[in-house]
Amino acid sequence: MATQLTDAFARKFFYLRLSVTDVCNFRCNYCLPDGYKPHGVANKSFLNVDEIRRVTRAFAALGTEKVRLTGGEPSLRKDFTDIIAAVHENASIRQIAVTTNGYRLARDIQQWRDAGLTAVNVSVDSLDARQFHAITGQDKFRQVMDGIDAAFAAGFERVKVNTVLMRGVNHHELDTFLAWIKPRPIQLRFIELMETGDGGELFRKHHISGKTIRDQLLARGWVHQLRSRSDGPAQVFCHPDYAGEIGLIMPYEKDFCASCNRLRVSSVGNLHLCLFGEQGISLRDLLASDEQIDELEARIAEALTHKKQTHFLHDGDTGITQNLSYIGG
Ligand code: GTP
Ligand code: 5AD
Ligand code: SF4
Repeated sequence: MATQLTDAFARKFFYLRLSVTDVCNFRCNYCLPDGYKPHGVANKSFLNVDEIRRVTRAFAALGTEKVRLTGGEPSLRKDFTDIIAAVHENASIRQIAVTTNGYRLARDIQQWRDAGLTAVNVSVDSLDARQFHAITGQDKFRQVMDGIDAAFAAGFERVKVNTVLMRGVNHHELDTFLAWIKPRPIQLRFIELMETGDGGELFRKHHISGKTIRDQLLARGWVHQLRSRSDGPAQVFCHPDYAGEIGLIMPYEKDFCASCNRLRVSSVGNLHLCLFGEQGISLRDLLASDEQIDELEARIAEALTHKKQTHFLHDGDTGITQNLSYIGG
């Protein structure tokens, strides 16, 4: 029986976010406005399929039931289907998800599903093709929409869509987004813009609190659902007339960290205990052979004893996270 990773504050960690690459072909204004550039730590190569197999095996032995593959854009890895299959070798990992910009969905989603993928989150920051292009630097709105249709056609019953809320950019599209999910089983998550290292100006100009959206949803008859174990930090809202749901992700809310259920491993094998302000503990030297698994598990369990109760707000940190493409969001 697997042990369950638990921290000093009785939070249980059954969810691993594993970044498989830092590279991205989009240039989202809140993430990589100048496009991907190779940088310091990641000049090392990204974890290979064997290293990914070993790290997920260790997490599975420590009770992990869900692995989300992130990036950068994970589907830019030519061996991405093999990565899914390697994670799927762990019988106790029942959910394997990907967070993607949707670029390769229409082409590859069926083969990912066949390899063991169980869930898809796609970023869509605008339903207006021109605005989509302006935000992402890529004229791929249609391709991404086709990708979402392809996910439903491949048998996914529900797709999650991430929309980063930006005042003056997409906030006015709220009713268009709601109309879009009326007939579709999409969980649309509005994510508060987070301040990243070089995104200070964008943040000051466009940050808008998720509470504004919450008030607008309540005024339109949406009902706040009770939290379920799988929600993680999202607050979920439903409406009887809609097939879709809304999730609000508000990392600046003060109780946000209480429901934290996730750990992160970066594309070069560093374990991150929090998305905010923390350097990471390297696991890579323990990923070279199967014989190191006990030591690997011990290092992960020991690291977790250092996880703090909350991020920046209460311990004088800046609250500025790294560019999320480097740590996988
Ligand atoms: P599920 O696994 O489906 O619950 O989704 P998720 O919200 O964890 O995954 P996804 O990759 O779609 O996350 C969307 C975005 O939410 C991330 O890229 C981050 O911007 C934000 N986010 C997710 N987890 C955290 C977290 O623990 N802390 C903070 N601050 N933001 C998070
Ligand atoms: N603020 C909020 N969310 C961000 N993401 C990336 N950068 C930011 C940021 N600065 C998230 C978005 C995107 C996912 C891949 O990463 O949700 O959909
Ligand atoms: Fe790429 Fe995702 Fe960052 Fe956009 S948010 S630039 S798609 S990693």
